[in-house]
Amino acid sequence: MAKMLIKNIKGLFQTGDNLPKYKKGAQMDNGDIIENAFLAIEDDEIIAFGKMEDWAGITDWRDLDVIDAEGKYVLPTFCDSHTHAVFAATREEEFEDRIKGLSYEEIALKGGGILNSAAKLQEMDEDTLFEEALDRIHGLVEYGTGAIEIKSGYGLSVEGELKMLRVIKRLKAASPMEIKATFLGAHAFPKEYKENQQAYIDLIVNEMLPKIAEEKLADYIDCFCERNYFTVEQMTHLMKEGAKYNLIPKVHVNQFSIMGGIKAAVDHGALSVDHLEELDKNDIEALKGSETMPTFLPGCSFFLSIPFGKAREVIAEDLPLALASDFNPGSSPSGNMQLLTSIACTKMNMTPIETLNATTLNTAYAMGISDTHGSITVGKKANIMITKEISSLARIPYSFGENIIETVILNGKTFALNKKE
Ligand code: NIG
Ligand code: FE
Repeated sequence: MAKMLIKNIKGLFQTGDNLPKYKKGAQMDNGDIIENAFLAIEDDEIIAFGKMEDWAGITDWRDLDVIDAEGKYVLPTFCDSHTHAVFAATREEEFEDRIKGLSYEEIALKGGGILNSAAKLQEMDEDTLFEEALDRIHGLVEYGTGAIEIKSGYGLSVEGELKMLRVIKRLKAASPMEIKATFLGAHAFPKEYKENQQAYIDLIVNEMLPKIAEEKLADYIDCFCERNYFTVEQMTHLMKEGAKYNLIPKVHVNQFSIMGGIKAAVDHGALSVDHLEELDKNDIEALKGSETMPTFLPGCSFFLSIPFGKAREVIAEDLPLALASDFNPGSSPSGNMQLLTSIACTKMNMTPIETLNATTLNTAYAMGISDTHGSITVGKKANIMITKEISSLARIPYSFGENIIETVILNGKTFALNKKE
């Protein structure tokens, strides 16, 4: 049995035996921090934690690895509950077009955007797609991401969507990260279906969903509910069809327009509603009393220069909120969760502790892994990160662009980038 003790920890964040499944409202500013702490790990599990003075006698500490974390903080690894991390090519040319004045929507209407990524993905074989995605997500571990949700949605054909989801299934097997797969066949209408949208919806329902269920390729179902993309009615139909295969919705809504998608998603038991750059009173009412996690994607707001989510309003309504990267080649080409906390502090007026709750406990909920991830609790997976020596946790968002994380431990083992497991 492999035992590890991390001792002299300056502050152990998100720790306790009775943490809520997510934090909301005023709770979001509570870090549940133990100062001058120890953390004990056996194999891949957290087995004990507490104040340094209490650690002696808790277990047999012979033959154990000891890490001295004097001056350093220990946190659960980030859970990134919304990404499109499997893709074939970056899209800098669209970035330059936007600098010259075109909007994201205008570029998409010209056949760029999601359709551009779909064309590139069609040309890449499954093995290359897999190798590149594995390197890409392991690059994120260096910045503290220990769990990641990845969507399909650049296939947009039966073969393309299955290829993406098979890649995600292989990533699950090959990586020590915790990975969830979301089927996003309804990401955009392929050109050939522009005039016959129903035929593409039927393709999703009759051809894609049964094969995905048969091969157990997806944990969740998504839909880009937006003007020029999918209507609330189309999304509702897809959520109902997904439910026949036990696929819970996690959907893209309210990025550019308010169409009533949040209420529809809440009514169909969505685990999360994501984007929400646009949000009105009715949307907030729909979220109240629900179990759906509102999720903001500040990297997308930053990169596309669109409004930032109204985090303060959501928190003032005693709601929870999560922050995810939306890592993708078009609207948010960074999966750096530390950088996200900076953007959320400076642009959404969130406190540093709120952003750290929103990227750990609350995103673990938003990807359905609360039982094992998102906090430092006895019995949960030993997925933790150790900072450099820092004066306070606020250094993570404060030092934007700097990697404050020194060590990442996944399933009880120190992660080293070149030592793929
Ligand atoms: O979440 N908005 C829809 N989908 C992605 C962007 C995908 C792309 O541009 O490739 C998003 O921002
Ligand atoms: Fe997205």
